Amino acid sequence: MPLVFIGPMAAGKTKIGRRVAKALDVPFIDTDHRIVEEHGPIKGIFEQHGEDYFRALERQAVAQALTEQAVVSLGGGAVLDAHTQADLAGCSVVYLSVSSRAVGARIGGGKRPLLRNGIADWKRIYAQRRPVYESLADIGFDTSHRPLDDIADDVVNWT
Ligand code: S3P
Repeated sequence: MPLVFIGPMAAGKTKIGRRVAKALDVPFIDTDHRIVEEHGPIKGIFEQHGEDYFRALERQAVAQALTEQAVVSLGGGAVLDAHTQADLAGCSVVYLSVSSRAVGARIGGGKRPLLRNGIADWKRIYAQRRPVYESLADIGFDTSHRPLDDIADDVVNWT
């Protein structure tokens, strides 16, 4: 059964997911990376084709990833899709939460098309999605105050 990381942008899903996969000696899949490998940067996909098109690519990438024996990190918005929600019922789901104060330093770089207004957008989007993350999670870890390596250890101990 795949171990899946969900949570808001910049919660540490990719970094922690990669470390957990290494510790468990299973493949790591980041669904955003798979989309980028096939279709180019996410920002470009949003600009050229719009968010709905990106979500369709994401739905496919997630559906495929969740059939694999792997640790899987999802993009922050992937959990809004009904098919993905149904697929997650058969997975171990780890929700990584983070405070807006801690996330401030992590969201530079301009690679995320939904954060044109930086932390204000992040807060608004997280407020909308938080109940979805909570309802899908088997366990949650707050990544605000501790090194990501330590949280990865906690996740491995939980599995
Ligand atoms: C998004 C999160 C991003 C990426 C895209 C949209 C979202 O992934 O999928 O920019 O809607 O929250 P991360 O959560 O890995 O930043």
